[in-house]
Amino acid sequence: MNTEKKIFDISPVRYREGKLYLLDQTRLPGEEVYIEIKTKEDMWDAIYKLKVRGAPAIGVAAAYGLYVEASRYSGTSVIEFTDYVEESADYLETARPTAVNLAWALRRMKQKLKEAGIATVQEGRDLLLEEAQAIHDEDVKACRSMGEYGLSLLEPEMGILTHCNAGTIATARYGTCLAPIYLGQERGYNFRVFADETRPLLQGARLTSWELDKAGVDVTLICDNMAASVMKKGWVDAVVVGCDRMAANGDGANKIGTSAVAILAKEYGIPFYMYVPTSTIDMETLSGEDIEIELRKGEEIYRMWYEKPMAPAGIKTYNPSFDVTDHKYITAVITEKGIVRPPYDINLKKIMEKK
Ligand code: MRU
Repeated sequence: MNTEKKIFDISPVRYREGKLYLLDQTRLPGEEVYIEIKTKEDMWDAIYKLKVRGAPAIGVAAAYGLYVEASRYSGTSVIEFTDYVEESADYLETARPTAVNLAWALRRMKQKLKEAGIATVQEGRDLLLEEAQAIHDEDVKACRSMGEYGLSLLEPEMGILTHCNAGTIATARYGTCLAPIYLGQERGYNFRVFADETRPLLQGARLTSWELDKAGVDVTLICDNMAASVMKKGWVDAVVVGCDRMAANGDGANKIGTSAVAILAKEYGIPFYMYVPTSTIDMETLSGEDIEIELRKGEEIYRMWYEKPMAPAGIKTYNPSFDVTDHKYITAVITEKGIVRPPYDINLKKIMEKK
């Protein structure tokens, strides 16, 4: 375990002196390398390949990515510039379908431009940068606030299980469901965290255990199929997870395997908390059945982490990147505006309307 305390100092998206950098999360935990994003194609590739990942971080990165692309437009026509920005946004949106923050952030950027009635291309660029920075700053604040609300549900010395990575590097800063763990760490709560490895892409092993360990949190890595075992032993007092898109009825899409953890938590009487900034709540999607689930290549299951293929050649695979946790398994939804309890169809609407 790392005893050095270094909390909250890792940001996956950095905009510095006109240049955009992303922490390449595919190289963690071995190497901490920032890559520069110069075009919309660079950004699309980074999102698709999960160099930047986690719903809020994808939204923040895409917003800056759109600004970077807008800066490449060399003409002077405001109409052409606006079309160029719209087409670039539509292209970026195709990189991954499930996390609503991508579409949400790009829609905000387009809207800003449309509503402003700009007189020059430069004015348009300035507005886009301003909006990207606003999306970034708002996410930092939202995560901080979710951390405080989330901590109010936890007690010192608790055992907490988490799935995938909804930490600092999945957001602008602090994380969603890991934010209360960091705050608790600062305040001496001594949590014991169990991180599911999260097959097939190992976000729990490569990212969650890395960032918690770096912060000096007591973290134990387990395989996904060990969650029931640690729950049965009484080592888990709460489950905390993030979300990629929550429908209006409270069904929440998150990393594949999340719904199995929720069902287990119910069986063992453990509260299951989903951390969902309002940017991840999609009131236009009525239930989880309407959420598009990203399907990825089978080689992530049988090839990617092995020296040689761990399945017969040509094997058929099914590799959905997310699953939907039915709202009936979610004890509470933690947003930056407060904690939402069932009935979600009524209370999510209320929280979305809250100023
Ligand atoms: O495929 P990923 O790594 O982008 O999936 C990430 C998750 O499922 C996270 O739990 C979710 O995006 C919330 S991040 C605060």
